[in-house]
Amino acid sequence: MLQKLRAWTRARRRAHFQNFLPARRPLRIVDLGGTVPFWRGWGLTPEDQLHITLINNHHIDTTAAGYGNDGAQIVNRVFDANDVTADYLASFDLIFSNSFLEHLDSRQAQARLAAKICDSGKPFFIQAPNKNSPVDPHFPTPLAPFFAIYPRKVQAALLARFRLGSSARSANVADAMERMRFYNPLGLADMRALFPVANFAVERPLGVPMSVLAWRDNWAPAAANKNSAPLTAAVA
Ligand SMILES: C[S@@+](CC[C@H](N)C(=O)[O-])C[C@H]1O[C@@H](n2cnc3c(N)ncnc32)[C@H](O)[C@@H]1O
Repeated sequence: MLQKLRAWTRARRRAHFQNFLPARRPLRIVDLGGTVPFWRGWGLTPEDQLHITLINNHHIDTTAAGYGNDGAQIVNRVFDANDVTADYLASFDLIFSNSFLEHLDSRQAQARLAAKICDSGKPFFIQAPNKNSPVDPHFPTPLAPFFAIYPRKVQAALLARFRLGSSARSANVADAMERMRFYNPLGLADMRALFPVANFAVERPLGVPMSVLAWRDNWAPAAANKNSAPLTAAVA
């Protein structure tokens, strides 16, 4: 069931993203917490002319490390996304992230990065799983509905006893607390506070509010070039 919800949401988000993009190409995208398998899953092709720079900490989280870059279309930069600057972000056409922001270690860290994304002045497309969903993709178990909003100590106590659909249960409560440091889920209200300049949508496969999208589509007009008609051209 969860797989079906995920597949539906992924396809819808891909379509939303496609409609969000301007026709002009190439586009340079920075993907915070991005991975090669994600873009393969979205069926990225060279014809899309999307040039993607992944910012990732694969030296710490090796889950999606070690994939080839499929030519020059994707490049991998291993560094802490907390360290990017607004100027660095502004050097791209679009700031993207998918299922990443909730892994920063505090609301303050999320707020600092969100402020830099807003201050960059660039379009962005940011997704995070919705903490107010009965199903949490990190702990996808029917045994703990709405797990994301339980008090931290309850989450840690449960995770020290059960796997909760994740890769493993924690050895003890202290380990679970440390693990939960990098699990700070967000809801629509949190995303509104982080991205006051954004548009929002809640993705609801089968009515389940699984995920929150925040985007800004302030695309800069394409620079004039030899193919452009003059802006003041009289209409014949
Ligand atoms: C849940 S995965 C999402 C991967 C991919 N964006 C997707 O949607 O399939 C979160 C990713 O964020 C990366 N990540 C977490 N904290 C990070 C940080 N502080 N700096 C850079 N990358 C980070 C992890 O390495 C991981 O690849």
